[in-house]
Amino acid sequence: MEFKVGVCQFKPELMQIDKNLAKMESLLESISADLIVLPELAASGYLFNSEEEVQNIAEDPMNGPTATLFKRLAKQLNTSYVIGFAEKAENGIYNSAMLVNPDNSVHIYRKTHLFFEEKRWFKAGDTGFKIIRAKNNVKVGLMICFDWIFPESARSLALSGAQIIAHPTNLVLPWCQQAMITRSIENGVFSVTSNRIGKEKNGNNTLNFTGMSQIVDTKGNIIHRMDKNEESVFVTEIDPLESDDKGITEFNDLFLDRRTELYRS
Ligand code: ACM
Repeated sequence: MEFKVGVCQFKPELMQIDKNLAKMESLLESISADLIVLPELAASGYLFNSEEEVQNIAEDPMNGPTATLFKRLAKQLNTSYVIGFAEKAENGIYNSAMLVNPDNSVHIYRKTHLFFEEKRWFKAGDTGFKIIRAKNNVKVGLMICFDWIFPESARSLALSGAQIIAHPTNLVLPWCQQAMITRSIENGVFSVTSNRIGKEKNGNNTLNFTGMSQIVDTKGNIIHRMDKNEESVFVTEIDPLESDDKGITEFNDLFLDRRTELYRS
């Protein structure tokens, strides 16, 4: 099965939702793909200093500016998209990602493991690690940024049948891109990590994001890794069905060889 998967890397401007969405549209409007992954909190930026700021950028998951743009692009370009956004819910605000399909469906994942000061602004996600069908019925699992450091995130998605892990990020620590190679190997899945770039400053706080967005195959080969500063979209053709084969050798299988009775939960 041929499936064109892509990753988009850019520098959002803090709290400039319209400007950031316009930039994403200009990066994507000429790109033909089946699935493209964009960064965490892509329209809003990341470094908040108050609850008020977060309230101001939080969006309705179905009809906010991010959902509106990506529903339009999905239909226009016949592409599924995964993009991180701040989700305004009845009981609070979540650091979420949406998967938007050409058939106008929108599916939400809420970040399970919040990083650092995110715990001040966001509620911990309650959706869990579910499989979402993207274009062509491909099975996509969503996790967001710091979820990577808990191997259970990718494992749960793979055990549920994910063929591609779509991983929007705003990475500041140096380890994730290398670790995601292992996540792909140990679970036999493709992973697409989309990171942002640039320095973000808010008051006295500053963060530097590490770029190096990447697509990794089921054996841990880096199909493509961007550099630390480029703003671009990369698309490659993969066969998602490769993820359904968990064999390692004639005698070994990633899932059948698990000894869950000896593991701690
Ligand atoms: C992160 O989870 N945004 C580091």
